[in-house]
Amino acid sequence: MSQDNIQSTLHEDRRFPPSTDFINGSALSSSKVNELNLKSKGDNQEFWAQQARTEIDWHTPFETTLDSSNAPFYRWFPDGQLNASYNCLDRQLEKNADKTAIIFEGDAGDVQHITYRELHAQVCTFANALKAQGIAQGDRVIIYMPMISEAVIAMQACARIGAIHSVVFGGFSASSLKDRIEDTQAKMVITADGGHRGGKVIELKSTTDSALNAGCDSVKSVIVFKRTGHDISMQADRDIWWADAEKGQTSECEPTWVDATHPLFLLYTSGSTGKPKGIQHSTGGYLLNAITTMRWVFDIQNSDVFWCTADVGWITGHTYVAYGPLATGATIVIFEGVPTYPDAGRFWDMCERHSVSIFYTAPTAIRALIKQGDDYPNSHDLSKLRLLGTVGEPINPEAWMWYHTVIGKERCPIVDTWWQTETGAHMLAPVPSVTVTKPGSCTLALPGIDAAIVNQEGEEITTANEGGYLVIRKPWPSMIQTVWGDDQRYKDTYWPYFDGKFYLAGDSARRDEDGYFWIMGRIDDVLNVSGHRLGTMEIESALVANSLVAEAAVVGKPHDVKGESVFAYVVLKGERPEGGVDNELTQTLRAWVGEQIGAIAKPDEIRYADNLPKTRSGKIMRRLLRTIAKGEEITSDTSTLENESILPQLQGKA
Ligand code: WTA
Repeated sequence: MSQDNIQSTLHEDRRFPPSTDFINGSALSSSKVNELNLKSKGDNQEFWAQQARTEIDWHTPFETTLDSSNAPFYRWFPDGQLNASYNCLDRQLEKNADKTAIIFEGDAGDVQHITYRELHAQVCTFANALKAQGIAQGDRVIIYMPMISEAVIAMQACARIGAIHSVVFGGFSASSLKDRIEDTQAKMVITADGGHRGGKVIELKSTTDSALNAGCDSVKSVIVFKRTGHDISMQADRDIWWADAEKGQTSECEPTWVDATHPLFLLYTSGSTGKPKGIQHSTGGYLLNAITTMRWVFDIQNSDVFWCTADVGWITGHTYVAYGPLATGATIVIFEGVPTYPDAGRFWDMCERHSVSIFYTAPTAIRALIKQGDDYPNSHDLSKLRLLGTVGEPINPEAWMWYHTVIGKERCPIVDTWWQTETGAHMLAPVPSVTVTKPGSCTLALPGIDAAIVNQEGEEITTANEGGYLVIRKPWPSMIQTVWGDDQRYKDTYWPYFDGKFYLAGDSARRDEDGYFWIMGRIDDVLNVSGHRLGTMEIESALVANSLVAEAAVVGKPHDVKGESVFAYVVLKGERPEGGVDNELTQTLRAWVGEQIGAIAKPDEIRYADNLPKTRSGKIMRRLLRTIAKGEEITSDTSTLENESILPQLQGKA
């Protein structure tokens, strides 16, 4: 592991304690939180066992809390049985049957309310349809849908029958979809004809067709939800409309009871090497932390309207749209469109119209909306908001302050939540009724989470503000189970150092004098573009797959809205374009990467050079490339470069 003496330059002295009003309205008192912390620091496993008994309805109660015999393949509650969909839906029927579960708003403004009773019936009907199509426990099902209620219904229906879903973000290309289908060996794809975003129709079925035509022999059937009604083609022996698949199915479906360790889902995410990896999550442990964090971090209460703006294609849309809020009986908002359509007031307009009380979004969205001016939020009644949250990347203190003053009117605590696809749920985050927040810090570890910063030797760093590796030292219920089909990669990626004792998050961080965590960035070659993880290797492989390209290196360049933008250096097989830029070629390669991975991975800038800068051992000098991308002066030693004349080419000067 390479450590470039991680240093931090950020200083932040502002402190924001929760208001008396918030404290009085919160379900969590500071004494209760102290108790949780004390208990978890005492007997950590007993702490989680108690939480699991309280928060989950078990079909077969567990006897064993944690099986560590095959570490780092930890198995929580291994002899317990449950069903996630039962815990989300059936148990709301007694008291909350007529409560709104989902407020759906389409891109064009169409609104639909679904009660828990209706949602339960729809999930059961669709679960029966899945069974009729031959889907059984353990089968993998790909969900490639727009952000509509049916995406959640499809996830819940899979969970109900023990099928393992893998949601693929609707913005991913046919090629990315195909990779995921093939890696999971999915039997079925659930998709839609298309979706609506920003007034445009997004193709989904035709993309699915392109993926399936390129291979994917495991797929036996495709269920298509009619959303847009535009023309698509249906393959008679393979494709069936959602409504037709549901014909004749009843709205009752006995849940399939599965072991707590049965995979609830696979979700692909980027790493520093190779193809995206299928992060495998359990049913019991995952659901437990989805629930506990809804309580501890979001202070969820019966009267709340909870809106997490993430797409179900990302982990945030799994834990805080599809599972956590439903398992705690909340009313959620699901939104198909984009924050800037029909204008940049859409989020605030929706918060007002739907009386949203808890709003959770990404710093990149906040930064984009700041640019649109304060008139948009100021012309809406945001008085129902009581809590705000952010996720996905560090929030810069200025964006935090805007969120706090312009959106929260200095009334709403902000929960900056640090976690990952792999952690399944929040790990570092404030408890809003208790924690004094600081702009830019995700504050402290939640009860039961043993997070620390360590140096290369695995020793805890106790000096304030000294950077190191963020690790988690004790297993926790919602932790990644393995990388689907690749146990070795799971071990190598997450437990490579310190004798496999600590979970390595892949982030660098520091703790300040109060012990607060400040995330500094990734330690591997992973970019964070608009809160989405992209591996530099993935984009490089996509570029090199183009017949014009010989070699490519990709780095992140700081970007004021997206966090990072994608900056590519390309060596062509043919002649290097004059002056190192070629707009037409750049457009071609951008479009190519869009087709290979998806629009989010398109390089923002491309520079062409005769060679890439490499060390004597052949490693690309990424740090140098990052410096050049930023337009900064080169201060590192470049004398070992084989061909120093490429420097001006990389800098776009020759
Ligand atoms: C980054 C998203 C700073 C971090 C839930 C992590 C953050 C990666 C924060 C995981 C935060 C996420 N502050 N950085 N509050 N939240 N990150 O898997 O680098 O898409 O490792 O999960 O996002 O991204 P992922």
